Amino acid sequence: MRDVEVDELPRRALEALRNKGVMPHRELRDGLIFSVDARDFMSTVRDGSADVVFLDPPFNLGKRYGSSPRSGDQLEEEEYLELLSSMVEESVRVLRPGGALYVYHLPAWAIRIGGMLEGVLDFCHWIAVSMKGSYPYGGRLYPAHYALLHYSKGVPRVFRRPKIPPATCRHCGGLVKDYGGYLEYVSSEGLNLSDVWDDLSPVRHRRNKSRPGNELPLPLLRRVVRISGDRGGLLVDPFAGAGTSLVAAREIGMEFIACDREEECCDAMVERLKGVGPVERVGPGDSAGLENDGMGASEEREEVAK
Ligand SMILES: C[S@@+](CC[C@H](N)C(=O)[O-])C[C@H]1O[C@@H](n2cnc3c(N)ncnc32)[C@H](O)[C@@H]1O
Repeated sequence: MRDVEVDELPRRALEALRNKGVMPHRELRDGLIFSVDARDFMSTVRDGSADVVFLDPPFNLGKRYGSSPRSGDQLEEEEYLELLSSMVEESVRVLRPGGALYVYHLPAWAIRIGGMLEGVLDFCHWIAVSMKGSYPYGGRLYPAHYALLHYSKGVPRVFRRPKIPPATCRHCGGLVKDYGGYLEYVSSEGLNLSDVWDDLSPVRHRRNKSRPGNELPLPLLRRVVRISGDRGGLLVDPFAGAGTSLVAAREIGMEFIACDREEECCDAMVERLKGVGPVERVGPGDSAGLENDGMGASEEREEVAK
């Protein structure tokens, strides 16, 4: 269904997709949403067209997405590995030089994905995103983090180090850590974001029960696009779920092409995007977790090879 005239970047990707007979579920001015298998979707995306590729695949744990009876999230290990490696390979192909690949997974799979990318992309970060409410398997330590892998296709075109507000006690509101002589700076400028993200709350769906499960926290995707995205760039998300990456992309003025094989998820993304527009700069103390908009003066910004 067509909303408005589609912008240049997604339109060019759309032409390539149409040539192969893949029609979008929805065309928006700044993005396209497809409801097909992620492999079919990726195989039609142009070489070197994406600034950021975000992969948040199903974890193969038998989870159901949407209300359709097919789970598909319980493949034989070989088959699952094949899905992951084809998605990784395609992601590398569609990234433009200097583009960024992010992959969110459990550490046991992230380490295998890292192996697939060895010598192919440049490793930037293994970001530990804290996991809440998990339980230990026999003979293992308590699992407390997901891995968010960050790779770059050569020298990053964009790299920013966002600032975040310092942690405060939820009872008294005071700072949890003592910053000594840096207190004034930390209070006004915020802290440099590290590669341990333990300040994000999982999405509980209390207010958004209509959305499909496994939605990532929006601040996580805001960080991703603020580190590696840029106004006017293109984000590709083949497992878009509830469209969290699309919200973050639109907020900073990126365009997107996204996919989820569940139509229900695609409809939910379109609904969710209705209230979202570009966001003006917000300071490090913003309680919505927006941090800086990526273009702020207080932020360390490194742009290379533009
Ligand atoms: C972990 S969720 C993604 C959540 C998303 N990052 C968000 O924040 O809302 C994975 C999504 O991939 C979709 N999916 C699973 N297998 C797929 C496939 N082979 N092709 C396309 N989509 C698939 C599921 O329907 C599910 O919505």
